[in-house]
Amino acid sequence: MHTFHAFWWLLHILGVALWFGGQVLFSILWAKIRKLPDSWNADILQSLFDTFDRVSLWSALLTAVSGTVLSFLVEPRAKLSYFWLTYMQGMGIVALILSVFVLRWLGKTVRNRMVASRSPGSTQTYTSVLHLNSFILLTILMMAAFKPH
Ligand code: HEM
Repeated sequence: MHTFHAFWWLLHILGVALWFGGQVLFSILWAKIRKLPDSWNADILQSLFDTFDRVSLWSALLTAVSGTVLSFLVEPRAKLSYFWLTYMQGMGIVALILSVFVLRWLGKTVRNRMVASRSPGSTQTYTSVLHLNSFILLTILMMAAFKPH
């Protein structure tokens, strides 16, 4: 692998690690937090969501930018490699939109509702989208693991 290619590959993997890692860690924390109504504190919730939103934004951008550069550098030979790449690009964009726009907006709504009403039932949509996004990222990783050469 050429050094230039290796450099962007490394950035891509760092982005993916931070993005997927952040998703999984926040999902684990969130599973606990949403079930502890007595400990909901507006400031703590705010800073937790802000941190998650910021990590998601920058890691998703790093992944997308490095992935776009890599797309110009690779020339898949096998037909299945084209499918792998197209799946990653397409679903990568879907995951980016979910991370950067949808989860950010839903997070703001759910946080305000939690602080105002202290009702755990209202966190379901946010939780579902959070899990869906982790699942999408996981399927991309599985496609990468089993990609043909
Ligand atoms: C957002 C749009 C994305 C684009 C345009 C993109 C593009 C690419 C390209 C062109 C490669 C091939 C690099 C090479 O063979 O040297 C690659 C590698 C890789 N991508 Fe992405 N990617 C994107 C998102 C993602 C996401 C969201 C994940 C994981 C959740 C991911 C995981 C990987 C992995 C693990 C590799 C390394 C595969 C290997 O070298 O065997 N990518 N990406």
